[in-house]
Amino acid sequence: MDNAPIGIFDSGLGGLTVARAVIDKLPDEHIIYLGDTANTPYGPKPIATVREHTLAGLDELASRGVKALVIACNTATAAAVSDARERYWIDAGIPVIEVITPAARAAVNATRNRRIGVIGTEATIRSEAYSSALAAVPGLELHARACPRFVEFVEAGITHGPDLESVAREYLVPLKSAGVDTLVLGCTHYPLLTGVIGRVMGEGVTLVTSSEATANVTYNELVDRDMLHVPLGPGERQEHLFLTTEAEGAFPQLARRFLGPEVQQVHHVDVDSHGGGRRGRTATGWN
Ligand code: DGL
Repeated sequence: MDNAPIGIFDSGLGGLTVARAVIDKLPDEHIIYLGDTANTPYGPKPIATVREHTLAGLDELASRGVKALVIACNTATAAAVSDARERYWIDAGIPVIEVITPAARAAVNATRNRRIGVIGTEATIRSEAYSSALAAVPGLELHARACPRFVEFVEAGITHGPDLESVAREYLVPLKSAGVDTLVLGCTHYPLLTGVIGRVMGEGVTLVTSSEATANVTYNELVDRDMLHVPLGPGERQEHLFLTTEAEGAFPQLARRFLGPEVQQVHHVDVDSHGGGRRGRTATGWN
């Protein structure tokens, strides 16, 4: 048993879809969520910049004594997962869970015709992280497409409507024409658009989200390592901590809408990404 919190990191708001799935699967756990809202979006940024911001954010979470780190952001995973695993898991014993491998595995399990589509930010698609994750599976045909405007819609709180639908058609019709029967929503924000994405892709196409698959991996990691929180008593509820790197903004309102009433207070934290971020105390004592 381990009552330390789980740290969940995202470039901003979208990682709340992963946080929601983790809270649903592990309701006894205490979550510290950090959204790097001062630097969002990560999708259009160079990989090296995303890596720097990501490691700074993970340092902040590690300094708060988390027992596991979940990189909820696909772009951050694509840019920094190897460095993060070395820095926290190998050097400090903190398991690092990411969103790309679980979603890739779920897509392989779901496809019947071996044609898989992947959509994500420009940086995620450019990094070819999904192709690498699927490289060892023989006979797969992968169709990848960056859908940058989807993030803009979600950040503006728009999850349906004619403008969004027309952008969705422009992005997705080529994937549908390629005959994919499974589409990986390789971006934290896209689960909030499953209505429009599902409508354009049609009923025969399975939509795979990272959130559910990542929550499963998180559950398994904690069980395997005997790191679950002690069970809460009847009527007890966990209070989670939500942090953002931007002092103001629409995060609290949108977060409540996307995650639910668990989002109460949102606190601001300064995270320095120069020189690799703030290093600090962790449960395992690295510095
Ligand atoms: N969280 C990012 C991802 O999953 C999307 C938003 C962004 O571009 O920062 O790729």
